[in-house]
Amino acid sequence: GCPAKIAPSMLSSDFANLASEAQRMLDCGADWLHMDIMDGHFVPNLTIGAPVIKSLRKHTKAYLDCHLMVTNPLDYVEPLGEAGASGFTFHVEISKENWQELVHRIKSKGMRPGVAVRPGTPIEEVYPLVDSENPVEMVLVMTVEPGFGGQKFMPETMDKVQKLRKKYPSLDIEVDGGLGPSTIAMAASAGANCIVAGSSVFGSPEPAQVISLMRKAVDE
Ligand code: DX5
Ligand code: ZN
Repeated sequence: GCPAKIAPSMLSSDFANLASEAQRMLDCGADWLHMDIMDGHFVPNLTIGAPVIKSLRKHTKAYLDCHLMVTNPLDYVEPLGEAGASGFTFHVEISKENWQELVHRIKSKGMRPGVAVRPGTPIEEVYPLVDSENPVEMVLVMTVEPGFGGQKFMPETMDKVQKLRKKYPSLDIEVDGGLGPSTIAMAASAGANCIVAGSSVFGSPEPAQVISLMRKAVDE
């Protein structure tokens, strides 16, 4: 299958020490760093934006997997591209009309486009974006309602991952929310290969073990 990408969610890190927290995760075997960008409107929480990505980029060469929980993702393309973001994943719920323009702009800023779905959004809604001549390169299936770390994994979202994996054998499929040692088997067997994990990694005394356990579940 597709190789595992383990992406600790920096939302669970100590934001006051972001650079050292990022380095700690990379030293523990993280492939990507998941950056949750929220606008207090698409979701009822506010986090970080392009200025913080720009600051972090000065301290690391890591792949910065940006998850845009915002109502106007188009406004973020230019600043995030300039800041050094690597992936740019927007939500399909707010991008039904202008996604072609959005994907085009993301790629022209040198970022890798992805599309995310909330737990209640049918997976069929992303098919046109993956089938397009100018496709998104990753689909993020949310396994909790977006907005906060530390929530409970929703197993009912696994049907969507299965459907997606069946239709697209080599697509990067990411899951985000409530992933950790007790839920990784469900996500891996459904076909997810990019695994976001916040509280399970940062809450562990042995983050490297949690990361390697999740990698094994995906790669085996
Ligand atoms: C939730 C965010 C997640 C969150 C995951 O809105 O998209 O990335 O940080 O945190 P855990 O792994 O604690 O559910
Ligand atoms: Zn996220």
